[in-house]
Amino acid sequence: MRKYKFLFAISVIAIGLMSVLLASINEKKAEKEQLLAVPQIEKKWETKSEEFRKHYPRETDSWKQTKNSDNIDDMLKAHPEMVVLWAGYPFSKDYNAPRGHFYAIDDVSNTLRTAAPVDKESGPLPSACWTCKSPDVPRIMDEQGNSEYFTGKWAKYGADIVNPVGCLDCHNPKTMELQIGRSYLNDALKAEGKSPTFENATQQDMRTLVCAQCHVEYYFKKTPLENGKVAMAVTLPWADGTTVEDMEKYYDNIEFSDWVHQISKTPMLKAQHPEYETWKTGAHGRNNVSCADCHMPYTQEGGIKYTDHKIGNPLENMDKTCMNCHRVSEKSLLANIQDKKIRKDDLNQRALEQLVAAHLEAGKAWELGATQEEMKDILTDIRHAQWRWDFSAASHSAFFHAPEETLKTLGTALDKVANARIKLAKILAKYGASDYVAPVITDKKQAQELIGLPMEKLIEEKKEFTNGLLQEWKKEAEEKGLFNPKSREGIENKTSY
Ligand code: HEC
Ligand code: HEC
Ligand code: HEC
Ligand code: HEC
Repeated sequence: MRKYKFLFAISVIAIGLMSVLLASINEKKAEKEQLLAVPQIEKKWETKSEEFRKHYPRETDSWKQTKNSDNIDDMLKAHPEMVVLWAGYPFSKDYNAPRGHFYAIDDVSNTLRTAAPVDKESGPLPSACWTCKSPDVPRIMDEQGNSEYFTGKWAKYGADIVNPVGCLDCHNPKTMELQIGRSYLNDALKAEGKSPTFENATQQDMRTLVCAQCHVEYYFKKTPLENGKVAMAVTLPWADGTTVEDMEKYYDNIEFSDWVHQISKTPMLKAQHPEYETWKTGAHGRNNVSCADCHMPYTQEGGIKYTDHKIGNPLENMDKTCMNCHRVSEKSLLANIQDKKIRKDDLNQRALEQLVAAHLEAGKAWELGATQEEMKDILTDIRHAQWRWDFSAASHSAFFHAPEETLKTLGTALDKVANARIKLAKILAKYGASDYVAPVITDKKQAQELIGLPMEKLIEEKKEFTNGLLQEWKKEAEEKGLFNPKSREGIENKTSY
């Protein structure tokens, strides 16, 4: 009898366990089906990414975690020499290292670079400054056309571009396939002629190209329109290739400059954030290890495998990123990377100091009466040297994405700035100032005073804008159904001023 009771008990337990297992299998099956079925989002352009949560909770929740990377890293404080390098250009006022995608709209609105518009027509910056901040951009490009989008000032779209980098920057809302709505990228890929374009890109290529619509070098190309207006169209300078030298050649050929340096009068180039171009030259790019392979690793949750959308520093979860491919220990990989960073930081600081001296010495030479003819070659050297320095500095992670290329670029920057300073020494001597020593830059405040920036006034105007017009934009966007104020609840407004 006892034996049967025992067997009976075992069977009950087994049946119990099996039904739990079955239920869980069914649940997973249902969930997998739900994941495979493509739910329809009603609006064609739903740019409020939280709306996707009901269909894609894991992707949306991890996307939202880019919020955790909220630290403001004031680059001008860390390297005040940059203030002098950018004299006459908005970056000398305010420049922080990038943080999480969640802050793209806050940061472009708060930076002193976008200044303090008073209405939708006032500048100073063009509408193009929104281009890599929001899924509202491809929406407007689709609804109004590129020409309209690229005309007018930044303030024009204050009440329309309100959601930070989100789902529809990278996905087709109907199928959730990877898709890119910014056609200037495809134009550039075609002009370059060697890389895959949207038409023939593999899925692996797309896992990089979605990032390349924003993490690239670009300039605003003045494009006259039929209606008499002039568009400032985002254009990637790739027609001669995507290396630092190729793009320098492209800009030289069209005699393009972002601004004329306030002190040295050099026609300058500003590098943006050429992550895609530098990645191409490194070991990972050459092996087509995609941006997503490191920045968006696959993650397992129960039986569900999904893509982690918390795009951040891959070194924070090396077990899911690097260790998929590398056999050495995490510790030795980290030490290797640390060495790369130290080497780059060292050359970077040297280049900064040399460039400051070159600008100030050139300023002195002009002051003493040097001629255009005497200065011409020097200014070309300064232009090329700073372009190369900026190219490797603006992409903060270049030391990792392409260590050798980055050191080479900084090496040639140092070479060119040295040439400029040798020529400058001769000119200063000719005008009786061979003993001129350029002031050394010690901190951000001193540097901003040196170039004559009225910081207090700029900050005051900015605060008036952020407390006034910016709030009106948010309300207007809410009324249009474009913005959900709940999505920004509890967000602290951080700036470096
Ligand atoms: C910066 C680009 C980017 C953004 C922004 C983005 N995704 Fe993705 N998403 C990707 C990439 C890359 C993949 C991987 C695609 C592949 O290789 O199949 C992916 C995959 C997916 C998948 C397929 C299942 C999976 O997990 O692999 C879904 C669903 C998805 N994303 C939903 C979303 C939602 C919802 C949002 C907004 C909350 C979002 N994505 C924002 C780039 C992005
Ligand atoms: C629509 C434009 C856009 C797209 C697409 C985009 N990014 Fe970004 N990314 C930005 C902007 C803008 C910032 C800076 C945000 C800030 O500082 O407010 C940024 C910041 C970052 C950062 C810094 C994050 C941190 O926490 O410091 C990383 C890493 C990054 N992006 C990687 C990627 C990768 C990888 C992809 C493709 C899967 C991608 N981005 C796609 C615009 C974009
Ligand atoms: C092999 C892995 C790997 C690949 C591939 C990769 N990254 Fe990164 N990326 C990293 C690591 C590691 C860091 C952080 C380095 C550090 O410690 O600062 C980083 C940092 C960044 C940052 C933040 C800092 C900055 O401003 O540069 C951005 C943006 C970024 N990557 C974009 C990209 C893009 C875009 C691609 C594809 C074109 C890409 N990455 C490909 C590993 C990778
Ligand atoms: C999808 C596979 C893959 C992933 C993920 C990956 N790597 Fe690599 N890594 C490679 C390949 C392939 C090479 C080139 C090897 C060669 O040329 O022999 C490489 C080369 C390297 C090198 C030597 C070349 C150089 O640039 O100095 C380092 C260091 C490195 N990886 C670090 C990392 C780190 C750190 C991560 C994570 C953030 C990472 N890798 C993620 C595949 C990967």
